[in-house]
Parts: sequence; structure tokens; C-alpha cells
Amino acid sequence: MILVTGGLGYIGSHTCVALAQAGYRLIIVDNLCNSKPSVLGRIRELAPDATIEFRHADLRDRAALESVFAAHAIGAVVHFAGLKAVGESVEKPLLYWDNNVGGTIALLEAMQRHGVRRIVFSSSATVYGAPEYLPYREEHPLRPESPYGRTKLVIEQLLADQSGSDPDFRYTCLRYFNPIGAHPSGRIGEDPRGIPNNLFPYLTQVASGRLAKLRVFGNDYPTPDGTGVRDYIHVMDLAAGHVTALRYLEERERSITANLGTGSGLSVLQVVTAFARLIGREVPYEFVSRRAGDIAAFWADASLAARELGWRAELGLDDMCRDAWRWQTQNPDGYA
Ligand code: NAD
Ligand code: WQD
Repeated sequence: MILVTGGLGYIGSHTCVALAQAGYRLIIVDNLCNSKPSVLGRIRELAPDATIEFRHADLRDRAALESVFAAHAIGAVVHFAGLKAVGESVEKPLLYWDNNVGGTIALLEAMQRHGVRRIVFSSSATVYGAPEYLPYREEHPLRPESPYGRTKLVIEQLLADQSGSDPDFRYTCLRYFNPIGAHPSGRIGEDPRGIPNNLFPYLTQVASGRLAKLRVFGNDYPTPDGTGVRDYIHVMDLAAGHVTALRYLEERERSITANLGTGSGLSVLQVVTAFARLIGREVPYEFVSRRAGDIAAFWADASLAARELGWRAELGLDDMCRDAWRWQTQNPDGYA
């Protein structure tokens, strides 16, 4: 059985469907701090024949976690649970260190007690910080610029230390670039609380009339059209990457840290234009000043994942736009 922490969240829910369809039995642990209970029913609906159990618990609740490990024969962990808002992490660093790092320590202790030695971890491109060169390769210097990013880096180091102490403990750290899109059924997708921080949910809510106008943060960057460039990756490709990473841990006697991106960058204006073309009408936007802390451009060198894991992103910007729009139109208020 696979323990999926944070499995009711955006990336976790898509990955649970992919894992279940690949034949894995799942136990999800989520404290619902950034997800809704109704996600579980949607995941089960998309994988009707699978065993998918759920436990409402916080990773830092050691007694609850112990009872999950005691009650299930867990073979490996896929670890999504964490807080992820960069701005909030600057305001509440203790919360981020406690939840992300403290939660991971509690998880690793339980794994150790129960002899579980395989973990796939959600890391982030944010561990790199200001680019010394692009695309980022995995050996690029690691200088995250926010408390959030530093929690991700410390967890990567913790996993390396753990495997140093136990040669049979193996991990994959997956450094995601910018996940967007939704399941093609329109049944699961990204449901941020309040006004979205990220480009894509903001854009789809403008298109649906829920928000008035997209603010494009900066048009004076040293990029081809002056707007920020990112490596947007379809959440379905990301989900498939986790299935591949888990198989790698089962088959190969080594750990790996790999970028999960498409390997190419797109500007904010390219995204807005593609999205408007796909829905068949203009999306109102205005240029405003740069957002504090933003990097002009970054994208992945995705060749290590291709070479070592045999994984490549297959879906393009049109798929991301289409699936995000289907999710938005079928669920205008997100999950019930
Ligand atoms: P999300 O907030 O949608 O999902 C995280 C889930 O974890 C939520 O359901 C939340 O309720 C749960 N959770 C948080 N803290 C918990 C705790 N202490 N105990 C139990 N459950 C807890 O976020 P997401 O976008 O799906 O991201 C998943 C992971 O991927 C996170 O670790 C995030 O940092 C990482 N990541 C996300 C992105 C992105 O852009 N979405 C990019 C890079 C890395
Ligand atoms: C993308 C581009 C913005 C909103 C963040 C985290 C990162 C990772 C993914 C977890 C940028 C521009 C955005 C808007 C805009 N998460 N933009 N108007 O900042 O690349 O990454 O999410 O690990 O750590 O920092 O993503 O979607 O916020 O921004 O013009 O309303 O869109 O300036 O160029 P970002 P984003």
C-alpha cells in the first residue's frame, strides 16, 4: 500500500488517480488545511475499482500517524503535504518550518519505526533561487529566496542524511516547475482559497467573470516580450512522473533528485494569448509593476528525468488551457 500525504490537494489528487489507475492501493493522509473533503469522492469516481482509504490527520500528530502505519502494510510514501505560499511563508516562517519540516520529521520517524524505506518528495524549482544560467540543471547552486523554498531545500538535505544513515533508504526528490491544468474529465483541478496568487487560476477566474482583469506583473523584464517566463507543466504529466518515480524506487537501488518540467519557457503574454485563442475571446489584462521577489525567467533542463526515469512531459500549452478551462467552467466555485 502507498501512503500519500497531502493526497487531497491539487497535485496529490491528480497523482492519486494516476497511482490508483496504475494498480496501487492507497491510504491518503491529509489535514484538509488547504483542500476539501469532497475531493476524495471525485478521486474515487475517477478510479472506481481502486482501494483508496482516507485518514483526516495532521502529519505532526504522531499518535495519528503511528496508527496509520500500524494499521496498513505501507510499502512506500508519496509526500505532498506541505504549505506552499511564498508570501505567507515570509510572514509566518515558524508555521512553514513547523508544518513542512516538522511534518516531514514526524513522517520519517514513523517510516523508520515501521521499516518503510521508500519516499517520493514534492520539491520545487524554487530551491534554485536566482539563475546563474538557464535552463536550471539539478547541480545548479541552491539558494532559495523564501522561507518556503528553504523548507524544501532542508527536506531534500534531510532525505539525503537519512539515506546516508541507512543504505537501504531511498528517495526521489522531484523539483516541480509551474504545474497548471486539470484532469481532462473536469472533475478534479486546482481550487485555491480566496483570490489566487498564481497566474493560471487567476486567468481562468478572469475569463469566467469571477475576477475583473488580470494584472500582468511587469512588462520590462529582459525577456522577448518583457513579461515573465516560466516552465508550465500539465498536472497530468506531473502525476505520471510520480508513478515513474515510484517504479524507479522499486526497481533501482539508488536515490535521485530530478527536475520535472517541459524544458521550455513561456511568457505571461504567450500564456494569455493561447488561453484567449482557446476560449475564443479576449481576456482583459493590464500591465502593472513587477511583483516583489519575482525572477524574470526560468525553465528546466528536463534531460535527467528523461535519461534516468524515462519520463517526459507530453502535453502542451493548448492541453493545459483546455483542461484548466473545462475544470473552471464545470466547477465555477471550485469544490462544493
Ligand atoms: P495543495 O495545498 O493543494 O496540497 C497540499 C495538501 O497537503 C493539502 O491538501 C493540505 O491540506 C495538505 N497538508 C498540508 N499540511 C499538512 C499537514 N501538516 N498534515 C497533513 N496534510 C497537510 O498544494 P499542491 O499544489 O498540491 O502542492 C503539493 C506539494 O507540491 C507541496 O508540498 C508543494 O510545496 C509542492 N509544490 C507545489 C508547486 C505548485 O506550484 N503547486 C510547485 C512546486 C512544489
Ligand atoms: C507565474 C508568472 C508572474 C500572477 C510560484 C511559486 C513557486 C512554485 C510555483 C511552489 C510570473 C506572473 C502571476 C498574476 C502575473 N510553487 N503573474 N499576474 O511565481 O513562478 O511560482 O508557484 O513551489 O515556488 O513562487 O508562479 O503563477 O505566481 O507566476 O503576471 O496575477 O505569472 O509574475 O511571471 P511563480 P505564478
